Amino acid sequence: MPFPIKEVRATYPALSDGYAYLDGAAGTQTPRPVIDAIATAYRTGIGNVGGAFPASHRSDAIVAACRAAVADLVGGDPGGVILGPNMTTLTYRLAGAIAGPGDEVVLSRLDHDANVRPWTQIGATVRWAEVDPVTGELPVEQYADLINERTRVVAVTAASNILGTRPDVPAIAELAHRAGALMYVDGVHATPHGPVDMRALGADFYATSAYKWSGPHIGAVIADPALLETIRPDKLASSPDTVPERFERGTAAFADLDGVTAAVDHLAAMVPGTGSRRERLLASMSAAEEYETALFSVLLGELETMPHVTLYGKPARRTATVYFNVAGHTPRQVAEHLAKRGVNVWNGHNYAWELTGVLGIRDTGGAVRAGLAHYNDRSDVDRLLEGVARLA
Ligand SMILES: Cc1ncc(COP(=O)(O)O)c(C=O)c1O
Repeated sequence: MPFPIKEVRATYPALSDGYAYLDGAAGTQTPRPVIDAIATAYRTGIGNVGGAFPASHRSDAIVAACRAAVADLVGGDPGGVILGPNMTTLTYRLAGAIAGPGDEVVLSRLDHDANVRPWTQIGATVRWAEVDPVTGELPVEQYADLINERTRVVAVTAASNILGTRPDVPAIAELAHRAGALMYVDGVHATPHGPVDMRALGADFYATSAYKWSGPHIGAVIADPALLETIRPDKLASSPDTVPERFERGTAAFADLDGVTAAVDHLAAMVPGTGSRRERLLASMSAAEEYETALFSVLLGELETMPHVTLYGKPARRTATVYFNVAGHTPRQVAEHLAKRGVNVWNGHNYAWELTGVLGIRDTGGAVRAGLAHYNDRSDVDRLLEGVARLA
């Protein structure tokens, strides 16, 4: 059955403004059920958690439902879903609690800075996995030399937020686990682009952000509750010491958490399906991935034929994300030109700080990033291509 793109697009009110939203890698638009869930939570009345009255019970239920939904999305355990404002904040919080002076951490130059800097600032010894600047691949073989018995954490992304590269995370995880190290996998860019199974990836920690997959601005890190029991983050004396609450600071955005659950339900229902929510998610996200991949091959294929366009990376396995420059124009000028033609793309280093350094474009404005989400269609792609063609 073809991916029901018309029906999917119709659930996103923002798409009716006529712009081609190719900026999903920086944050997706939000479908009606998510907007409604957040508004309903506020309209119905919510209290802080753990109280004796119904509005508080509603918040208790919202938090529990959100953990269950996020666990379904990534194939994790609801009892190990840590919720917070965004991935960066949660990673800073966890990095210092997991590793420190005397430990080694292995980082990659493929990663968004949010899975780099929190690990470089905790006093551990850093070892770097390098990226091939031409292909944009992260060769696995180098990890055998980087990981040893002192390695506490291997932090790596499941997909590059600019090149789309999907490194061989399970192979890296095998090397890490053989040495007794923990895998901290940044799934922020990968999660919206296909089904996720954090156990198959070998992720001890899997980080994701709901605003990249049609939800509100909420982040989550998912781990085995038994592993979380062994970690003691800084926390208030008065706050719960249970897992995962131990890792959550202050009062949560309860209405937004209800929006996260609605986003997961939306993702599970993009194509008709039966079975558990996890099963429907796997089917629906596989269909979305297939749809995005086909559309992306048109986008990439056409850009490849344009002599005035420089494309960065050509990874074998990638998300529907492309990063390019246009001769004679700065990335910002390209983005402004496209914005005038009703196309939203991002320009700059996009926080891929190490990677844009490797590509030699960090100090020259980076490049232009266009990314597909499950709600983009052929007209979005055509409009981008026409706009770029005009810059020849
Ligand atoms: C791959 C990747 N990792 C991490 C982040 C940071 O996520 P957050 O904004 O939730 O802190 C981003 C944000 O763009 C990202 O694309």
